Amino acid sequence: MPTERTFSIIKPDATRRNLTGRINAKFEEAGLRIVAQKRARISQAQAEAFYGVHRERPFFGGLVSFMTSGPVVLQVLEGEDAIAANRRIMGATDPKKADAGTIRAEFAEDIEANSVHGSDSAENAATEIAFFFRPEEIVG
Ligand code: CMP
Repeated sequence: MPTERTFSIIKPDATRRNLTGRINAKFEEAGLRIVAQKRARISQAQAEAFYGVHRERPFFGGLVSFMTSGPVVLQVLEGEDAIAANRRIMGATDPKKADAGTIRAEFAEDIEANSVHGSDSAENAATEIAFFFRPEEIVG
């Protein structure tokens, strides 16, 4: 298994409920390491650009206003097969479909306020990491 890096966001529904530590415990217990981290409020322009692939979807406006509604925690996770591992730990986008024990099954409020984002491919992981972090901010 290759060592990979992937991008993770703890979303405003989770920071509002003070769940940052409990969510990150799930990543660490599964063997992923947090090699970069910052708490931030993202701007409307950042949210629109970050989720640009969803621009035509009916949920786009709601997603942008949700992601700018409170603080987020932006992170880079590192580990073996980190992109797929992160997606397994998060569970399905819709918490109603997420496996027991996953972050979204335990913590998500609904399909929009679903507590975490994770990159879905190696290409997107590289793009998303570079969107929020300079190389020197990532300390492996
Ligand atoms: P995320 O993994 O961050 O990627 C896109 C986000 O859009 C997704 O998590 C959800 O928060 C949101 N999303 C996806 N599908 C829907 C939907 N059908 N309705 C509302 N929000 C959605």
